[in-house]
Amino acid sequence: MIVLGVETSCDETAVAIVRDGKEVISSIVYSQIDIHKEFGGVVPEVASRKHIQKITVVFEEALKKANMTAKDIDLVAVTTHPGLIGSLLVGINAAYAFALANNIKCVAVNHLTGHIYANYIESDFDFPVMALVVSGGHTELVLMKEHYSFEILGQTLDDAIGEAYDKVGRVMGFKYPAGKPVDDAAHLGKPVYKLPVYENMDDYNFSFSGIKSGVLNFINKCNMKNEKYDVNDLAASFQDSVTSVLVNKTIKACKDYHAKHIIVAGGVAANRGLREKMTDAVSKIDGVKLTFPSFKYCTDNAVMIAVSGYFKEITNK
Ligand code: KG4
Ligand code: ZN
Repeated sequence: MIVLGVETSCDETAVAIVRDGKEVISSIVYSQIDIHKEFGGVVPEVASRKHIQKITVVFEEALKKANMTAKDIDLVAVTTHPGLIGSLLVGINAAYAFALANNIKCVAVNHLTGHIYANYIESDFDFPVMALVVSGGHTELVLMKEHYSFEILGQTLDDAIGEAYDKVGRVMGFKYPAGKPVDDAAHLGKPVYKLPVYENMDDYNFSFSGIKSGVLNFINKCNMKNEKYDVNDLAASFQDSVTSVLVNKTIKACKDYHAKHIIVAGGVAANRGLREKMTDAVSKIDGVKLTFPSFKYCTDNAVMIAVSGYFKEITNK
């Protein structure tokens, strides 16, 4: 089955063509990051307008690169939620119009299921799967007992982890999106500063607003006292604290639910500190597989939407 995926939920206009949920035939991503960088974050109205300008071009490029026409497509899959409403509407209208004009079925895909299914390109799923979804807008632990079954065990009570990276990175002097620069700085420093982080192991929820304020207060105090601090050490301290919580909770959930496969998904799955810590922790438990998406499929793309749409269709969900 050849699926054409469409993704416009935030600041990437993306179309991809994937065969049987596994083989990527083409993937086009037009990122608006350089435009939003100037404003320190995504400006929703600007994002919608850029999607309108780009969507047709990106559609055409994806088909051209695959050497295909609409006749070759068996299914269209489009992100319908969650996301910025104006941005989502551009992709939804384009996808349904393309499907209707060419007599192809169109399925609605939840963006977060897409992030999870980005891992399927790397490896088949061994159920039960424990998925840690860590993106700019979400932080969730999701149990999957079979394909296309998602049980949310816990989520953030306030900020998403990517959002915390972006805000903390901004006060450290990095531009949006600050996750990667903070990750790079963390690798040059040592976790010497003590920061407050929510570590309650009685549930599977997360909270990152405390550590975000902790970093802001730390910088303010240093500035007021005219004291110097090492930005690499501060990044390392932040990264060490938040990745420890993410890993500890995932491992606990994995053991509690006897999961055989841990999946890390979303933009923050690109974080090297998280990858190292999770790999180390999983190596200490027997019989549990660990996968991350390849770097290019961690942040928003349409391949993951095509794969998720494929599984939605074949499982009739
Ligand atoms: O999944 P995504 O593209 O967007 C949402 O669906 O929200 O994730 C974007 C987020 C941004 O907050 C960005 O700073 C973060 O992923 N990110 C990272 C890294 N690369 C991207 N965060 C930490 N370390 C990274 N290496
Ligand atoms: Zn995303």
